[in-house]
Amino acid sequence: MADIALYEAMRTTRAVRRLRPDPIPDAVLRRVIEAATWAPSGGNRQPWRIVAVRDAEKKRRLGELYRGPWERYARAQRRQLEQLAPESRSRGERMMQAADYLAAHLGTAPVILVFCFNPELLMITDISLGRPSVVGGASVYPAVQNLLLACRAEGLGCVLTTLLCISEPEIRTMLELPEPWATCAFVPIGYPIGSGHGPVSRKPVADMAYLDRWDAPLFE
Ligand SMILES: Cc1cc2nc3c(=O)[nH]c(=O)nc-3n(C[C@H](O)[C@H](O)[C@H](O)COP(=O)(O)O)c2cc1C
Repeated sequence: MADIALYEAMRTTRAVRRLRPDPIPDAVLRRVIEAATWAPSGGNRQPWRIVAVRDAEKKRRLGELYRGPWERYARAQRRQLEQLAPESRSRGERMMQAADYLAAHLGTAPVILVFCFNPELLMITDISLGRPSVVGGASVYPAVQNLLLACRAEGLGCVLTTLLCISEPEIRTMLELPEPWATCAFVPIGYPIGSGHGPVSRKPVADMAYLDRWDAPLFE
């Protein structure tokens, strides 16, 4: 197993969308999934499961289902990119090209991990506030992030995607998901074509964290 310092892994775990079809050994797949099981969840209920899709026909169909929503999303994104300054625009265009590649090749990733969750087991503590809740997701997505970091350590490329959730009815039938289990993330994983992971581009700490009140600088 490859080891990598934790901060280095977090700093360089980015979306890797160009994946080779070469198979992933069972021992490696088991390790990254075990890392997911170490994540916290409300009441330690672990209200998620993974269906690892390796079947060629099922992956092909997932790829086909992905393309429609991706094309609609990409059209809107590209319109927004036109408004940006040249540097951000070219970064955005590179991302869109990689994402187009994923949309064209999703079905040939060696494994697509379908994360499912049970809404009846989530601890949704803000449900009465009348705004969209993300608290339920906090019992699921830490597991996804653990998996992404473990893939980084193993030299596997991967990307968290959610566009396929819209096709849940067909995917439920295909993967025989029992009610009330539902889908919340689709993570294609595979060995990268090209360099794979690398430094992420994010806002600075000063834009993201405050001291004692909104917008007050936390650090000098
Ligand atoms: C909730 C969520 C949904 C996402 N859905 C998709 C998706 O459907 N397709 C895709 O190519 N990337 C998807 N991504 C990946 C993001 O585009 C990516 O994390 C972001 O652009 C930052 O890129 P970087 O990690 O390479 O820096 C998603 C990420 C998150 C967190």
